[in-house]
Amino acid sequence: MKYTFWICAVAVGMIVTLTQCKKASDDVKTSLTYCAEQARKTLVSIPRNGVMPRNIDSSKTEWRYVPVDDWTSGFWPGILWYIYEATGDEQWKKEADKYTRMLTPLSQQPAHDHDLGFQIFSSFGNGYRLTHDSAYRNVILRTADTLATLYNPKAGTILSWPGMVKEKGWPHNTIIDNMINLELLFWASREGGNQALYDIAVRHAETTMKNHFRPDHTSYHVVLYDTITGAKIKGITHQGLADESTWARGQAWAIYGFTMVYRETKDVRFLEFAQKVADVYLEQLPDDYIPYWDFHAGTIADAPRDASAAAITASALFELAGYTPADKCEHYWKMAEGMLHALSSDKYQSRQHNSSFLLHSTGHKPNGTEIDASIIYADYYYLEALLRKQKGLQRTDV
Ligand code: GLY
Repeated sequence: MKYTFWICAVAVGMIVTLTQCKKASDDVKTSLTYCAEQARKTLVSIPRNGVMPRNIDSSKTEWRYVPVDDWTSGFWPGILWYIYEATGDEQWKKEADKYTRMLTPLSQQPAHDHDLGFQIFSSFGNGYRLTHDSAYRNVILRTADTLATLYNPKAGTILSWPGMVKEKGWPHNTIIDNMINLELLFWASREGGNQALYDIAVRHAETTMKNHFRPDHTSYHVVLYDTITGAKIKGITHQGLADESTWARGQAWAIYGFTMVYRETKDVRFLEFAQKVADVYLEQLPDDYIPYWDFHAGTIADAPRDASAAAITASALFELAGYTPADKCEHYWKMAEGMLHALSSDKYQSRQHNSSFLLHSTGHKPNGTEIDASIIYADYYYLEALLRKQKGLQRTDV
């Protein structure tokens, strides 16, 4: 009798778990199909003059297009590569290749700013990962060398915004977003590039870990350094609510960035740090999983959300889960699933409103631009998170 009970309980448990797994994979499939349908609508309407979709304001239904020197230009080709990865359909590969190649001039000119990583790694990086086309490889290697020209060995970081030196009177400035672009340097050093690229990436991450965070592990958006001595001057904001507030996407870049740096270095200092910056984000997150555009804006009436921060964080947590012990692994994975579930709801998916994937991202609130909008990088990281969930937990030794 006792044994019969346990056998039944285990069998019921297995059926429930299998049903949940099947439902989760059906949800991902449905969302991936949705993304491909939306992207197809964009492909039909995109002008054929070398521009890329960037954002759709909440009052509009059509994309605003930007030239390839815009910092977001790599995300559209990146989306096309992810859809090719999800579907295996050669048509998507053809489109991905076409839009990727439009970015080639960026690898043939001096660095405008740190965004080269976002531009080239989302496009050519994904292209090379999926095709091993040596032409893509050459572009990535060249661009990594270009990005490295912005490195200041005294400060130990890359100069993120050379234009702001004059425009704002900011000397050597480094923004938290810059963490993402280290991936380009790690990749290049592994694929035949200079070892110095690896060293620069590690030093940038170490310096950022030391100077870019408050004691509670929330991040400054921008840190200013003395260009000559390299000494830290102060932490400030550009896109956040205040110098001492936590800009949501900045914290998301930090979670994603330090998780990636751990993957590339296997240095446990970065893994511990990634967890700390993730934990403070999760502790302050509203119950519906989508942050306000700044964590200190939650008490302001009608403060907009930032779906892009949620998408970046979801993608990062699916990876971070694979590096952490069982209890934390489950926590990160479940939180990432909660974020994807919220983003995939009728409140956040664009559906009939426009041809992007997601609504309700905030680009630059203090500037009054891209508020409560559809933004291309929200779509990119949403799709990446869906694919990471579909691949399942990638466990490495912990
Ligand atoms: N990297 C610029 C931004 O996140 O808005």
